[in-house]
Amino acid sequence: MRTIVFALLAVAVACSPGLKIIGGYDCPPNSQPWQVYLTFNGEPWCGGSLINERWVVSAAHCKIPASNLTVHLGEHNVNVEEGTEQRIGAEKVIPHPDYNDQPFNNDFMLIKLKEPAIFNECVKPIPLATRCSCAGEQFLVSGWGHGNPSVLQCLKLPVLSKQQCVRAYGSRITENMFCAGFMKGGKDSCQGDSGGPIVCNGELRGVVSWGKGCAEQGYPGVYVEVCRYTAWTKHVTDNN
Ligand SMILES: *[C@@H]1O[C@H](CO)[C@@H](O)[C@H](O)[C@H]1NC(C)=O
Repeated sequence: MRTIVFALLAVAVACSPGLKIIGGYDCPPNSQPWQVYLTFNGEPWCGGSLINERWVVSAAHCKIPASNLTVHLGEHNVNVEEGTEQRIGAEKVIPHPDYNDQPFNNDFMLIKLKEPAIFNECVKPIPLATRCSCAGEQFLVSGWGHGNPSVLQCLKLPVLSKQQCVRAYGSRITENMFCAGFMKGGKDSCQGDSGGPIVCNGELRGVVSWGKGCAEQGYPGVYVEVCRYTAWTKHVTDNN
């Protein structure tokens, strides 16, 4: 459930077929071993990224009670038992305290696992980006949407400038956000991908956050600028 602005329009125009990455491809199995799948009382909910053995990054708009949230690690096809999965309940759900001080701002959340994840070829953490740039590189976003298709989808996206982002969305864009994708539309992340990773150079550069519809011309996806939350993440993970 990536947050949608202009919700009525969005529902009418885009996103209805499956609420997932549009225009992507099947990720090679377990090629994004930090990617997690979050379920809410067993139902598909959001994405996230494993950052160490006890903590996952997601989006604050994916907040639900810890007792209702399960973190699925090592997934590829969420409808098939592949023997690589680890399912761990959430112990704590900690959204950023300044989430939504203006619409969609600080859409960043940490989830503590009840038990440590076991690292292997299919389950590995990703470091948070320390720099707020990804010069000349492509981003890779991934997600299952709401589980249809059931194989993890990957999509390579170009970096967009702050000017392009502001041209699309105006003053809603804060320094805690960046845009990635295609101004011509056709390829984008979508609601079910919320909270999931957008990666650059092997680092977690962003979190899937919001957009107008999905893959609409002139409205790229908006992502959380993860480099702005490294200090807060360290503070929370050291003290919880
Ligand atoms: C969370 O789970 C409990 C126990 O299964 C249930 O009673 C409660 O309604 C759930 N909360 C939400 C928000 O779904």
